[in-house]
Amino acid sequence: MSDAPLRKAVLPVAGLGTRFLPATKALPKEMLPVVDKPAIQYVVEEAVAAGLDDLLMITGRAKTALEDHFDRRPYLERTLADKGDDRRVALVRQPTELGRIHYVRQGEALGLGHAVLQASQHVGDEPFAVLLGDDLVDAATPVLPRMIEVQQRYGGSVLLLMEVPPQDISAYGCAAVEPTDEADVVTVTGLIEKPPAEEAPSNYAVIGRYVLDPAVFGVLESTPPGRGGEIQLTDALGTLIDPELPGGGMHAVIFTGRRYDTGDKLGYLKAMIELALARDDLGPDLRAWLESKLG
Ligand code: UTP
Repeated sequence: MSDAPLRKAVLPVAGLGTRFLPATKALPKEMLPVVDKPAIQYVVEEAVAAGLDDLLMITGRAKTALEDHFDRRPYLERTLADKGDDRRVALVRQPTELGRIHYVRQGEALGLGHAVLQASQHVGDEPFAVLLGDDLVDAATPVLPRMIEVQQRYGGSVLLLMEVPPQDISAYGCAAVEPTDEADVVTVTGLIEKPPAEEAPSNYAVIGRYVLDPAVFGVLESTPPGRGGEIQLTDALGTLIDPELPGGGMHAVIFTGRRYDTGDKLGYLKAMIELALARDDLGPDLRAWLESKLG
C-alpha cells in the first residue's frame, strides 16, 4: 500500500517498573543490564537494524540515566584513550552512534496508551513502530522488518503475537484472529487486555512490538482510562480493528523467535542466562558452572 520507508520508532520507557522493586526505585527498569548492556540498548539496536533511524523515547522519572547512556562521555573516553584501551572507547561510544534519539516526557505514568499519545506531535501523519523498552527480542530472530513489510502491504496496523500456554494468557493482551494466505500473518478480529483464561478468545498474546497507523493518536485521545485506571493501548487498538475506519484494519505477525520480558524478574534472569550462554567470552565457563550447579 505504501512504499515510503518507515523511519520512526517510539520507545516508551516511562513505566514505574513496580514488578522489579526495589531495583527500579531510582533506576528505570530499561536500564537494568542484560549481561553488559542495559536492556534498552538492545531495543534501540533492534530498531536501528530494522532501518528505523528516528527514535523517540517516552521517558519519565530518572530519565537522566537513559539520556546519559545514549550521550557522549568525553572524560571517560579520554581516560580510556590515554590508556590505549580502544576497545572500551568503542563500547562507550557505540550507544551514541546508533541513531538520532529524541526525548519527550510523560509527566505521569498513566498507562502505555498515554505514553504512546505523547509521541503524536513528533510522529505526525505517518505509520510508526512502537518497541517496548522492557521487551527484548533476540537479535538472532529479528521480526520488525517482517512487521514493517506486512504493514506496507496491508496498511492499517500490525501487531506481534506469540502463542503462550492457555493458563498464562491472563498476563497479556490477547487477540482473536483469522488466518490469511500467509502462514505467519493473521487478521486481528478482536483484542482484550489480560482476560481470565476462560474468557480468552485464543492463546495468542500481544507482545511488545507494534507498527501503527497514526490514526491511533485520535483514538487514544478519546480513550478513557481502562484496566488499572490506565489508558490502555490495547483498548485504542481494539477500536482500530475496524477496517472501515480511516487508518483502521489490523493484522499480526506470529512470532516464533526468542523474546524476554526483562521487566519481570524471571524473564530478566532467563534473558541474562541465555544471552550470556550465547557469548564466546562468557558462554563456555557459564555453561560449565551451571552444569556443576544443577548436577
Ligand atoms: P509495563 O506495564 O510492562 O510497565 O509497560 P510498568 O507499568 O512499568 O510495569 P510494572 O507492572 O509496574 O512492573 C510496558 C512498557 O510501557 C512503558 C514501560 O516503561 C514499559 O516499557 N510504560 C508503561 C510507559 O512508558 N508509561 C506508562 O504509563 C506505562
